Amino acid sequence: MAAMHRDAPTDELGKDGGSKASYTLSRALVALDPATSTQAEEFRALRTRVMARHIGEGRRALAVCASTSSVGCTFVAANLALALSQIGVKTLLVDANLRSPGVDQLFARSSPAPGLAQCLATPNAPFSEFIQDDVFPDLSVLFAGAKPPNPQELLATDRFAELMSFCLRDYDATIIDTPPANVCSDVNRVSTVVGYSLVVAGRNRSLISDVRTLIRQLENDRARVVGTVMTEA
Ligand SMILES: Nc1ncnc2c1ncn2[C@@H]1O[C@H](COP(=O)(O)OP(=O)(O)O)[C@@H](O)[C@H]1O
Ligand SMILES: [Mg+2]
Repeated sequence: MAAMHRDAPTDELGKDGGSKASYTLSRALVALDPATSTQAEEFRALRTRVMARHIGEGRRALAVCASTSSVGCTFVAANLALALSQIGVKTLLVDANLRSPGVDQLFARSSPAPGLAQCLATPNAPFSEFIQDDVFPDLSVLFAGAKPPNPQELLATDRFAELMSFCLRDYDATIIDTPPANVCSDVNRVSTVVGYSLVVAGRNRSLISDVRTLIRQLENDRARVVGTVMTEA
């Protein structure tokens, strides 16, 4: 797809997110920009592609992956989720980067809430207790939550697989942000459970060999790569 340009600093815009909590929205949520914005247009194009080739085919979850950090993985996951929600697709954005979460910087919640880490560490609690359903109409978010000492173990639990099944049942689309592949193997676990992944590469940032290695690993782990997105720094 067309490159996405990084142009705006992540200054914050205040916005009231509802009665339960409020959210400060980062300027990096470019899908919110006016229809004429190039980046918003690029996310609508990505949404069309994902709808046509993935969600529309009944495959409802997608892990967003990158080989290294700072290439825009979280940026793509959050804006894609937002763009899907804008056309009435009931969407859940999950921050599965338990080591260095980023979704909470894009949607900064007025008060901290338990997230994925606490959800996985609390076996019998209903999943819905950890999901914020007041972020936007048709957009719910499962934040990463307070940093756990054992992220890999938590993601390896059956409860994580059960959570993903719950998401598939309850949402039209579940977009999962993951940590970069060069710091841990969490992305492999998440992608294997989810079954499908979208690979993000940064122009002039990602080495082609690293991206190829990641795609090969994901395919070997039975996580079909449905596409790649190039971001521009
Ligand atoms: N194409 C882009 N346009 C604008 N800002 C971007 C773009 N890609 C990344 N950013 C910003 O760059 C920083 C790093 O991106 P992030 O998505 O957190 O990277 P990663 O998840 O790959 O580590 C963030 O501040 C993000 O908002
Ligand atoms: Mg990230």
